[in-house]
Amino acid sequence: MPERVIRPRRPTDLPACAEALRGVHETDGYPVRWPADPQGWLTPRDMIGCWIATAGDTDTDTDRVLGHVALTRAGAAIAEALALPAAKLALVARLFVAVDARRGGLATDLLDRAARAARDEGLQAVLEVDAAAAGAIALYERAGWRLAGSGDGGWIAADGLPARVRFYVGPVG
Ligand SMILES: CC(C)(COP(=O)(O)OP(=O)(O)OC[C@H]1O[C@@H](n2cnc3c(N)ncnc32)[C@H](O)[C@@H]1OP(=O)(O)O)[C@@H](O)C(=O)NCCC(=O)NCCS
Repeated sequence: MPERVIRPRRPTDLPACAEALRGVHETDGYPVRWPADPQGWLTPRDMIGCWIATAGDTDTDTDRVLGHVALTRAGAAIAEALALPAAKLALVARLFVAVDARRGGLATDLLDRAARAARDEGLQAVLEVDAAAAGAIALYERAGWRLAGSGDGGWIAADGLPARVRFYVGPVG
């Protein structure tokens, strides 16, 4: 198996990122609704950085994307839920790993990369996760993230009920 590398996302990676996301959406329902503009969805407002995991034997404009994560400024809602100042927080978002690349530590490495970038900016990494996303929750807790609260997700889940989210704070130091 080729070595896997984590590197900053380039604009030319976006089509491959959207293709990988399509597979995750079809398998896991993440995101719940397929966005009209997937490349835009992968580029949230106030982005601080964005990284992908690729098979490391190439470095071309068409590298296959195995995983993805973004780091953005945090909004008022999560800051309020955590009772922390938004200006001191960075939000980990858009984390996913292609179905055939899972359980090899890629999400852990992407999460570490984003949390390190937050620390480099003097910010505390935080995230919110669908309370029904058992795999992602297991990942965060295994990686040392601390459950810091829960709340209303603001959307209707597949079961027709209002979704709940959990808020996590990344490891300090
Ligand atoms: C959640 C997700 C990112 C995990 O990616 P991954 O590369 O397989 O994760 P890792 O290999 O780094 O997992 C590290 C540890 O997390 C836990 N974990 C990860 N996925 C898990 C799952 N589906 N069930 C239970 N535990 C899981 C395990 O403890 C795992 O260690 P192990 O493989 O030695 O048992 C991936 O399954 C995914 O993309 N899911 C759909 C999208 C999603 O939910 N994104 C998060 C949105 S908030």
